[in-house]
Amino acid sequence: MKIEKIGIIGAGIMGSGIAQIAVQRAKFNVLLYDVNQAMLEKAIAGIAKRLGRLVEKGELLATEKDIAISRIVTTHNISDLSDVDIVIEAASEDLDVKKSIFERLDAECKGETVFASNTSSISITKIASFTRRPELVVGLHFFNPAPVMELVELIEGLRSSIPALKIAEETAKAMGKTVIAVKDAPGFVVNRVLLPMINEAVFLLAEGIADAQSIDTAMRLGANHPMGPLSLADLIGLDTCLHIMETLHADLGDDKYRPCPLLRSYVQAGLLGRKSGEGFFKY
Ligand code: CAA
Repeated sequence: MKIEKIGIIGAGIMGSGIAQIAVQRAKFNVLLYDVNQAMLEKAIAGIAKRLGRLVEKGELLATEKDIAISRIVTTHNISDLSDVDIVIEAASEDLDVKKSIFERLDAECKGETVFASNTSSISITKIASFTRRPELVVGLHFFNPAPVMELVELIEGLRSSIPALKIAEETAKAMGKTVIAVKDAPGFVVNRVLLPMINEAVFLLAEGIADAQSIDTAMRLGANHPMGPLSLADLIGLDTCLHIMETLHADLGDDKYRPCPLLRSYVQAGLLGRKSGEGFFKY
C-alpha cells in the first residue's frame, strides 16, 4: 500500500516533531488534530522555525520549506481524518484520553486505516481493545526530539496483524527512521533501560551523593552520554518519567522499579522540567 495521507493526533512536542518529519522527509500530506487551537498554532510556528534553520544552514531550499508546511492541515475535527492511511496518536499519556480518542477514531476512520500510538507507557494491546479493529492497532514509539532521534520502536500488540505492522514500519522508514520490532511490554526496550537509569540518578541526588551538575557531568564524560540523566529527565518531562516508572513498577511487580520519592516531589511541586521552566535545572 502506498502511504500518502496520515493523521497525527496531538500537536504537542512529540506530535509536532512527527508532523515535521512526515512532511519534510516522507512528503506525506498530514492532518494535524488537536482540541486546542493555540497548540496547533504553536506547532506550525515551531515547525516553520525549525525548517527555517535548515534553510539557513543550506540543508533545505526555501521552496521545499514552503511546500512542506503547505502539506500540513490543522483541524479540531477528528472526522476530518476519515480517509487517512494511518493515524499516529501522540496525545497525552492518560488512559481515559486515549480511550475516547481511539473510540472516536474507530467510528470516524475508514475500515482500512491503521492506528499507531506513540505511547511510552500504556499497553498497545489495551489501546487496541478500545477499537473494533485490534488487528490494525500497533505502537510507533518515537523519541524526543523526534526530528533528530533516529530510532522508532515498532510495537506488536497481542492482536496486531503483520500487514498493519508493515504499514506502520513503512511509515516510520519513509520519515528516515531506523525501526526495531518489539513485543508489547512495559517500557518496551528503550524506556525499560533508560528510565531506571534516570531514577537511579534521582536517588543519587536525593541521597546527597553528588549534586545535579556533577551527576550529569559524570554520565556525559564518564559514559559518553550526549546529555546527563537529570538534564534528560528535564527534556522528557518529570511527570512523564514518573508515569513510566509507575507503569514499570506496577506492571512488572518488582520493587527495583520503585520511583524515587524525590522525583514524585518534583512532580507534586509542578517542577516538570523544560516544559514548566524548571526541573532539576532552570531554563
Ligand atoms: N527539535 C528539533 N531539532 C533539535 C532539537 C529539538 N528539540 N534539539 C536539538 N535539535 C537539533 C539541532 O538543530 C541540531 O541539528 P544540526 O546538527 O543539524 O545542527 C542537533 O539537534 C544537535 O543539537 P545541538 O547542537 O543544539 O545540541 P546537542 O548536540 O547537545 O544535541 C540532543 C541535542 C539531540 C537533544 C542531544 O543532546 C541528545 O541526543 N540527547 C539525548 C536525547 C535522548 O536521549 N532522547 C530520548 C529521550 S527518551 C524518549 O523520548 C522516549 C520516551 O518515551 C520518554
